[in-house]
Amino acid sequence: MIRKICCIGAGYVGGPTMSFMAYKVPSIEVNVVDINQKRIEAWNSDDLDKLPIFEPGLKEVIKKVRGKNLNFNNEVDKAISEADMIFISVNTPIKKSGLGAGYASDLRYVEASARRIAKNATGHTIVVEKSTLPVKTAETIKKILFSDDQQSSHKTKKSFSVLSNPEFLSEGNAISDLAFPDRVLIGGEDLDAMNKLKEIYLNWVDNDKIIFSNLWSSELSKLTANAFLAQRISSMNSISAICEITGGNISEVEKAIGLDSRIGEKFLKAGPGFGGSCFKKDILNLVYLCRSNNLDQVADYWQKVVEINEWQKERIYKKVVCNLFGNVAGKKIVILGFAFKANTNDTRESPSIQIIKDLLQENAEIIINDPKVSDKQVFVDLLGDENPSQEKIYIEKDVYKASIGADAIILLTEWDEYKFLDWNKISSIMNQPAWLFDTRCIINKKEINNTSLNFWQLGDGFTNQIN
Ligand code: UDX
Ligand code: ADP
Repeated sequence: MIRKICCIGAGYVGGPTMSFMAYKVPSIEVNVVDINQKRIEAWNSDDLDKLPIFEPGLKEVIKKVRGKNLNFNNEVDKAISEADMIFISVNTPIKKSGLGAGYASDLRYVEASARRIAKNATGHTIVVEKSTLPVKTAETIKKILFSDDQQSSHKTKKSFSVLSNPEFLSEGNAISDLAFPDRVLIGGEDLDAMNKLKEIYLNWVDNDKIIFSNLWSSELSKLTANAFLAQRISSMNSISAICEITGGNISEVEKAIGLDSRIGEKFLKAGPGFGGSCFKKDILNLVYLCRSNNLDQVADYWQKVVEINEWQKERIYKKVVCNLFGNVAGKKIVILGFAFKANTNDTRESPSIQIIKDLLQENAEIIINDPKVSDKQVFVDLLGDENPSQEKIYIEKDVYKASIGADAIILLTEWDEYKFLDWNKISSIMNQPAWLFDTRCIINKKEINNTSLNFWQLGDGFTNQIN
């Protein structure tokens, strides 16, 4: 029976996942630990609107369990030593330099966690990989755990089982994905440990949705799932460009092919390119795995999914510049949406970042509106931590104020609030000729027809545009 859980890493994965687990299994004490003191303070904030992560339904869950069987703290060693089961949910960014730079995951945080577990664990501990990791990382974790164990085994009698239990939740839907998962995947070799983890999930997940596999299949399944989803998006984005030149409409194509039950309707929305912390990273990981094992054709195949994604962002930026007479210098461009998708304040790999950077290179003046992303985050993403210069970048929380005197609006995140704007009012306060670029296909064309706006909608060969 598992009585105490420790989760290392209070981020986008660890925070919501552990909160939900604590909520569903009151008999287990869950300690979420992090080396980032500010993050822990934010998770402990009295004002639940100040939690470090915005997720619909999350604050309600936290309100019910925090201080009861869910604690956020930075006593990492203590939480490790008391735990029967430890989840590793630390960040695994792409390496910026060295071997595999630009492709391989930086495993320093995973390794540091494993070393800390090796040192501080007591008795038998089940260690669960929760972060998305390169295939064979469990092997590394095992080596670290068992080497320390061997050295001190006589004194402390510690032992470990390593499991892989990838998280498939998507941001903005974290709580419903956790509550109603399509499947829960548990990879491992120790059936007893696998069953212990399964017992926890059985508190709210049906037995037939919990599947077992070996460790490597589990790690690879997570990378493959993300690569497949991203591939669908790149496929649709490539078709969106064909629609624009042939007079097709990407939303109509999406509907028509999505009704084929073999294809299915999900993840077929064309847009400004996929963002988020996982898709690009996981595909590049897959590419690295293939190249390191002389599977160059396979590597090239998956690499193209990322290349199309980069091309889509560039294509959109060029469309904007071309339609504004090839010149955006000194022009006011409003950006609607900075998060990588709606219903999250996460900006990691957001397509907005690259598109805005390209427009800044053209000396445009950028006014950014996003309902959830903090001003600080916008500046960090666009200018880096150190550069305080905010020249040409403005943030405006009111879309109407942002639009005064603007030459163009680019809609980049599909927030609901952007679907119900008064476009007549907006066009009347913009600088004419004014443009609206809808890269998420959420604006009803009919509403724009009554305004003086020039309208470009992604993947629509009928709207007014210059190619
Ligand atoms: C993804 C996976 O869905 C999830 O299973 C995994 O655990 C983590 O990575 P997430 O990054 O939160 O989740 O977001 P997701 O909803 O998958 O969207 C990723 C990106 O694809 C976003 O930028 C989104 O705007 C874009 N997208 C998604 C599209 O452009 N079109 C679509 O049809 C769906
Ligand atoms: P993810 O999206 O994978 O959850 P995040 O970056 O949101 O990634 O969160 C990962 C968290 O892990 C961060 O808050 C970071 O401070 C924390 N972390 C990284 N290394 C360690 C470590 N060795 N011990 C404890 N926490 C760690």
